[in-house]
Amino acid sequence: MKLYLDTANVEEIRELSWLIDGVTTNPSLVAREKRPFHDVLREICAIVRGPVSAEAVALDREGMVREARELAKVAANVVVKIPLTVAGLQAVQVLSREEVRTNVTLVFSANQALLAAKCGATYVSPFVGRIDDAGGDGMALVEEILNVYGQYDFGTEVIVASVRHPGHVLQAALLGAHIATVPYGVLKKLFGHPLTDAGIAQFLKDWQRVPQS
Ligand code: G3P
Repeated sequence: MKLYLDTANVEEIRELSWLIDGVTTNPSLVAREKRPFHDVLREICAIVRGPVSAEAVALDREGMVREARELAKVAANVVVKIPLTVAGLQAVQVLSREEVRTNVTLVFSANQALLAAKCGATYVSPFVGRIDDAGGDGMALVEEILNVYGQYDFGTEVIVASVRHPGHVLQAALLGAHIATVPYGVLKKLFGHPLTDAGIAQFLKDWQRVPQS
């Protein structure tokens, strides 16, 4: 499973650039940086070789297509995030013919994911954390989407998004999701285990008793 970092923070991306396969941003994450969007995007795309998702904010088809073409010019690894609306999917159809890669976002049902794939989306992003927050089962949706996609040959990849904790990452991997996009804090938690720390401390303590030559 590929791991993306879900952030627009350049320091976080730089620190984990040796590990991650890509980056996803959204307007809320970009707003936290208090910098012009294209400057941030250009900098991220120079650090990361893999796909970098940048969201279009227009709501009409023509506006989204126009914005997507501009975003795609920023760097070769830009993927344009498009919300799952009728206009959004129409834009995805146009962009797919132009070979502009798209990440259809705000996906909350398997039928939405089916439509996105039929329109030529490169990626779909089901928001598992927001479904869990609303009392649903986000990972059950991921399983459904993977089952639907497994019946056909769409080529659309599933990005498990709105990840809240390491359990979401493990479940995504167990289900065989193509990608999980993970916030910085959650990704850092994946490294740790108390028994690893205790093991290192014990080995170092025992090493003191080894005679030095
Ligand atoms: O980038 C999209 C998604 O990961 C947002 O997550 O935490 O705002 O639900 P969240």
